[in-house]
Amino acid sequence: MTTATSASSIFSRNLRKTYPVAVRGEGCWIVDSHGRRYLDASGQAAVVSIGHGVPEIGRAMAEQAGRLAFAHTTQFHSEPAEKLARRVLAIAPRNFRNGGRVYFTSGGSEATETAIKLARQFFLETSQPSRYRVVARRQSYHGSTLGAMSVSGNVARRAPYAPLIPEWGHIAPCFCYHCPFDKTYPECHLACADDLDEFLRANDPSTVAAFLFEPVVGATLGAAPAVDGYTARIAEICRKHSILLIADEVMTGMGRTGKPFASEHWGLEPDIILTGKGIASGYAPLGAVLAAPRVVEAFESGTASFMHGFTYQAHPVATAAGNAVFDYLEAHKLFERVAPAGEHLRKSLAALESHPHVGQVRGLGLLQGVEFVKDEATREPFPREAGIAEKIRQAALAHNVLLYPGQGCVDGARGDHVLLAPPFIVQLDECQLIADALRHALAQVFSAPLG
Ligand SMILES: Cc1ncc(COP(=O)(O)O)c(C=O)c1O
Repeated sequence: MTTATSASSIFSRNLRKTYPVAVRGEGCWIVDSHGRRYLDASGQAAVVSIGHGVPEIGRAMAEQAGRLAFAHTTQFHSEPAEKLARRVLAIAPRNFRNGGRVYFTSGGSEATETAIKLARQFFLETSQPSRYRVVARRQSYHGSTLGAMSVSGNVARRAPYAPLIPEWGHIAPCFCYHCPFDKTYPECHLACADDLDEFLRANDPSTVAAFLFEPVVGATLGAAPAVDGYTARIAEICRKHSILLIADEVMTGMGRTGKPFASEHWGLEPDIILTGKGIASGYAPLGAVLAAPRVVEAFESGTASFMHGFTYQAHPVATAAGNAVFDYLEAHKLFERVAPAGEHLRKSLAALESHPHVGQVRGLGLLQGVEFVKDEATREPFPREAGIAEKIRQAALAHNVLLYPGQGCVDGARGDHVLLAPPFIVQLDECQLIADALRHALAQVFSAPLG
């Protein structure tokens, strides 16, 4: 069923594991080289929005590659990049209209790197050279390059590289299920948002350029949305200290949570938005940084030249894929489909909530997480060594359902969850298959005695 790792020349994610070879995709399904079909309940890593194997996307990419595959952005713009930038800005929060611009990258980590440098240079352009730090939150993930790691608060992913990673400051996450302040919403009066203010007061705010956060924390916390009032308080604190507000919507952008950008659930108007993943639905490596007019204007009235670049930024074939995906989302009204499909998925999962080891089912739209706890009443997690999330993943895989497992949502080490982020086309019966696989997985994993 699998290719032996010893026979592989790929430096795989885990050299001890063998991986099936994926050869085809159809809607919510991936088919391997032995014909086994897997239901992609996580859109791989919350990437695939329109579904696998949509032929018109490949045709659009081939057409662009045949006409012009590449032109360097120091010398040319391309039609697909111009068109996609206009379209993305048109669905962005209102403050991006009339003068916003888009910087296309080849993925989310590059988008984070770009935003860090954009924020830094914004303050050089506006004659505030002391500002360079980008403050972020613990229990977050913003990418795997070193700049992106330095803002990420994902303990396990940072740990091996700690000596290489500068620390610019992290504040508490907004995560009511395991509140870092042991408080309850709304009596907490948003202590987690005020943590930014306290941090800035205590840590020379004149050195801070921006605050960066995920409106719904994806991989690290398993789809934990901000509570009402949080983003407004954060925006107010950023304004008060004259720092830029950056929303990392690499996972949540382009419709995943039921709005084009998750910021819109709370009417948030960030200065910079990062997106990726769903922007090309996995058909091409593509990410984007949306800069609001006030950021663009600072450059326009300054040097006009952003000291940054990637050879493959705004790639014509990748942005052609982005446009074809956008066409598909519009033609099939898939942006509108996410909220009701998310409700169906949630209803299918409802029966799991009574399981003694299911602590919480949470999320927005088609970004849902299921957290497993040792003790439902105290929300105590399993010990890390029990490897519950991975065991659930394996047990669901035996039922041909692909999940995205995560560990560390409680304190960076303990806490098990799986992320569900199926394509926007997911059908009712597929939601039921996902729930059934999880039910079987729970029965199998928790029938054995656990530590
Ligand atoms: C919120 C967030 N930001 C950034 C990234 C990094 O994106 P990429 O893996 O495309 O570099 C991810 C990837 O999971 C993410 O979820």
